Formats: sequence, structure tokens, C-alpha cells
Amino acid sequence: MLKSHGCGEIRLSHVGQKVQLAGWVHRRRDHGGVIFIDLRDASGRVQVVIRSESIPDATKSIANIRDEYVLMVIGEVHERLEGSRNDDLPTGDIEIKVEEVEVLNSSKTPPFPINQDITITESTRLHYRYLDLRRDRMTSNMRLRHKIIKHIRDFLDERDFIEIETPVLGLATPEGARDYLVPSRIHPSSFYALPQSPQQWKQLLMVSGFERYFQIVKCYRDEDLRADRQPEFTQLDLEMSFVNESDVMQLNEELIISLLEKYAFGYEWNTSFPQMTYATAMEKYGTDRPDLRYGLEINDYSDVFRNSEFKVFSSAIGNGARIRGIVVPGGATLARKSLDSFIDIARQAGAAGLVWIQINGSGSVDDISIDDIKSPAAKFLSLEEIIQLANIANAVRGDLIILAADMDLITSRALDAVRRDAASKLELINSNRLDFVWITEFPLFEWDEGESRWSATHHLFTAPIDEDKKYLDSDPSQVRSRAYDVVCNGQEIGGGSVRIHSRDDQLQILHLLGISTEDAQEKFGHMLDAFEFGAPPHGGIAWGMDRTVALIAGEQDIREVIAFPKTKSAVDLVTGAPAMVSEDQLSDVHISVKPTDEVNSSRDISEEI
Ligand code: AMO
Repeated sequence: MLKSHGCGEIRLSHVGQKVQLAGWVHRRRDHGGVIFIDLRDASGRVQVVIRSESIPDATKSIANIRDEYVLMVIGEVHERLEGSRNDDLPTGDIEIKVEEVEVLNSSKTPPFPINQDITITESTRLHYRYLDLRRDRMTSNMRLRHKIIKHIRDFLDERDFIEIETPVLGLATPEGARDYLVPSRIHPSSFYALPQSPQQWKQLLMVSGFERYFQIVKCYRDEDLRADRQPEFTQLDLEMSFVNESDVMQLNEELIISLLEKYAFGYEWNTSFPQMTYATAMEKYGTDRPDLRYGLEINDYSDVFRNSEFKVFSSAIGNGARIRGIVVPGGATLARKSLDSFIDIARQAGAAGLVWIQINGSGSVDDISIDDIKSPAAKFLSLEEIIQLANIANAVRGDLIILAADMDLITSRALDAVRRDAASKLELINSNRLDFVWITEFPLFEWDEGESRWSATHHLFTAPIDEDKKYLDSDPSQVRSRAYDVVCNGQEIGGGSVRIHSRDDQLQILHLLGISTEDAQEKFGHMLDAFEFGAPPHGGIAWGMDRTVALIAGEQDIREVIAFPKTKSAVDLVTGAPAMVSEDQLSDVHISVKPTDEVNSSRDISEEI
């Protein structure tokens, strides 16, 4: 070893010892003949002091030392003088008086300072990711990620789960996101698909009798990317036999809480996760991943406006729509710009618009006059209506009421977006809280307008709730599933379900999704066959590991907890993948590509971040 200790390990107890250290020059201060260097390695940092006169042979190379050079030093540990200690560093009580120094490698000036927490353009960070990973923030995120994954492995191992690897080269399936395809050389015109998740393999492992499986596993989905989505991401995937939904939920809740207790410093959280049905979540929050850190719940105010002179509302109700809205406490002070931005947000979410009503003044709403009301709809609404609305909504003077009139699908989307924006504008979000909730009883199917057919809301192996099976043939929209999602602070952290485990039940669902028996046998024959050999009842879940780590690390973007993430347009800026390949490589896999001007050949990296 080129080192006797890690830089970050040296303490007062080492004073008087000779140590040999190796690492990078984190910071260098030259005090004329005496050079102070913060030497950094994977274990931390320590101050080393080089007096050039005491190492005359090395004077020249010492003078050349710059940030990020790699050094090996030998020296004695000394206690720092009173007044020169650094309480911010665990090694801040000592320093190393260097007797020998060797420059192991030099470094060009890095494209950004490693030793400062400054804002750097995302493209530069991702291009030089190996340097970005030297920075404190990324180093600690990577270490946290390692610890969380180790904790999960230990937790599950103690509970008789075993980790089993499943294939990466698999069969493309017709449902779900778009697959990443891999052409086969040996079988012309045939393709493997990279797994979107190991769903089918883990179910087959239950048929094999393992009963408790898990895997920390890479999954691949060719879908539009966002702050919480990467084309390749990591799941904690698990599956259990002889369980119902509460068994899976309870075990996962225990695991999450044990993780939080160990690693979520500075946060508070709910120690038992409430359960909320999909229907309730949509009604109260307009989304199946509600952020419960603040109120601003959506309510139905249709009754107030059923016979209103305000035709926008009363005719909408006549056409089967509802008037839904939220009360924003203190929102009467919001400026016109903010109110207009709510309307923009609602429009972006598909709504025709919003009606906002600010109730000014203080005291009871019962004695408000029309002068207290500010609203673009003020002249169409009667004072009685507004008072009735305010009373039902529990609004007081000083509040803002936001109303949307449309079909539920649209008002849900619009009010969800406005609710989140209002919470952030009025600073109602407690960023130290983690509010977990289980969302249950999802619809088994959703109607796919584009394809004019039903598609599976979770995935097609999810079992229907027993009492709803009667609607499978008559009205699939009524069938609720045995799926559950774990949601935290408005983000879906994981999702799973109790599965179908009989061939006939599975075929019935496949038929309902418009998949013929023949196609079902071709694409899912292995599952249908396996279900005929004593498949146990089983269920499971998968969490987004990147999202989980980001949540605990307090990061908004999952790229901050992934060593080498892709840009928003799925490019790896370190290596430049994806890239063209040679004609020979293409011909090996029996592929000819369209001329490059037909595909988008020029890549503007600045737009990809
Ligand atoms: P699902 O598709 O809900 O379920 O995925 C599980 C969890 O994976 C995370 N996730 C992602 N994270 C980052 N980037 C992405 N592109 C991405 N897509 C999904 C989310 C999500 O909750 N096989 C089923 C699970 C099961 O039924 O057991 C599945 O994959 O946090």
C-alpha cells in the first residue's frame, strides 16, 4: 500500500506517529516557504504542512503542486496550535509535518473547482462526471446510496429473502413503456428486449418455490425523461408467496422506516403509513400521488352553483361536469401575477380556465359586501352564493378560493397542478417532513383513447379485487385492482400488487386487453404454462431505488444519486452513447439503418440537459 492510513482517519490519538498518506490536493495555500495542503482521499481530508527548506531535494516539484495533483507524503502527526484548529474537519485538531513528498501524478486545471460547492452547468458536470463525483455532495450521495442498499440487503436477508439475478436479455412484451431492443446476431431479424422490470421472472421464481425473492436490479424503459425518470434506473424488486396485500405493505413499511431511522437525518415522518384509496386520492387531491405535507384539499362545490346565474358554472353542471375547488388560506394577498399564473397552470393541465375569488378584510364572511370580493367573475356571482360557498368551504376573510368547472379528469389534473403551485408560492411545504401514504384500490384498467382499448393500470399480472370480478365482462371500468403504491411527498416511490396465479384468470385479463389466445400464448405462454404447475398465491412490489435515495439525501433530481446518469434526451455525456456503429457491426446483427439525414443526426448537447 502507498498509505498507512486514510487521510480522514488521523486523530489526536495519532500524535507523534509517523504516517504515510496518499491522495489529491484539495486546497493549497502557499505561505512563502511553507505550503499548507488539504490532502483528500476517499476517507476524508487532512492538513499536511510542507516546509520546502526541510525537503531541499523536492523544492521544485513542491513549487509545482496544484489543486488535484496526486501526492504521497510521509510525515509525523502533530497537534495543531490553539487557534489554528478547524472544527469543521474531523481531522481538524492535527496536521502532518511532511518529511518526504512524492508527486504521483499531476492534474490539468479541472473544468470546475472540486473544493467549492458552486453551481456548475449540468452539461459540464455530466461530461466530467468522474470529476463531479470527487465533490463532497456527490461523494456523500454515493456513500449514502451504498449504505441504503446494504441496509436493504441485510434487512431482507434477516427475513429469509434471497437475492436472485434474472436475465437482462429477454422477450419484448406488448404492454408497458417502450422497450430497449438488442438485435440478435445468431437469429436474424430477432431481438431481445432489455427488462422494464423483472416482473415475469420474479413470478416464475415464486412458481419455483423460493417464496421470498428480492433483487437490486437495473431496469430499462425508453420513455420521456424527467427529474424523477431515467432510461436505466434501479429497482428494489421483491416478491413473496402466500401473502395478501397487507403482508407486503407491512414488510415494506418496516423496511422504509428502518431506513429512515438510520439515514434520514433532520427529517420527521409518519411512523405508520396511512392508506388511501385511489378514488379518495383523486377526489381530494386530483392525483394518485398526493403530497400530504399540506392541506389545500379539493372539494366539490357544485351544489352552490347548480342554479346559478353564472352560466359558465350552471351549464357545465347541466352537462355532467362538477365545480371543484380549493381554498388557499391567506391567498387574498396574492398579486394578480400569481393568480394569472394559476390560470396558466390550469390551462397547461388541459382546463379551459379557472375562477378565483379573493375575500378581503377580516372577521366573519357572513357580513361581507361585494366590495370585499375580488374576482373576474364577481359581477356574475351573487353575494349570497359567495357567502354560501365560503361557509361550505370553511373559507374566511383573507382567503382565496379557486374553482374549476369541467369533467373530473380535467379538474383533477388542473387542481392538482394549482394545488402544488399554491403550496409552493405560499410556502406551505415543510421540507423537513416525509409524508408517506399507501394508495390502494386502483382501477384495474384504464381506457386507452389512442388505441381504443383497455390497458392495464399497473400491469397485466395484477389481480382484480374479488368482489369486483363480476364487472370484468360487463363494465371493466368498475373493476378495482389489488395494487398498491407507496407515495411520499407527492412522488411515487414504489408500486406493486397481489398477482393472478391461475391460467384461466390470466387469460381472461389478456382477452380483455385485446390480446388473442394465440398472441397470449406467443407472448405470455411461459407464464400461462407456469400457472398450471402449482403456482402459489403471490404478490410483491418494486421501489425506485434512485427516488428512494434522492428522497433521503434531500435531492430533487435522481441524477444527483446516480453515478453516471443520462441527460434528458438519454445521452451519456461521458462516453457519448448512443453512437453510430460500424457497417460491419450492423451487418453482424443483420441491420441496415436509414441514412443519417432521415434520423436526427445532429445533437445539440446544450438542449439535452
Ligand atoms: P412500476 O412500473 O410502478 O412497477 O415501477 C416501480 C417503481 O420504479 C420507479 N420507476 C422509475 N424510476 C426512475 N426512472 C424511471 N424511468 C422509472 N420508472 C419507474 C418508480 C416506481 O414506483 N414490476 C412492477 C412492480 C411490481 O408489480 O412488483 C413495476 O416495475 O419509483
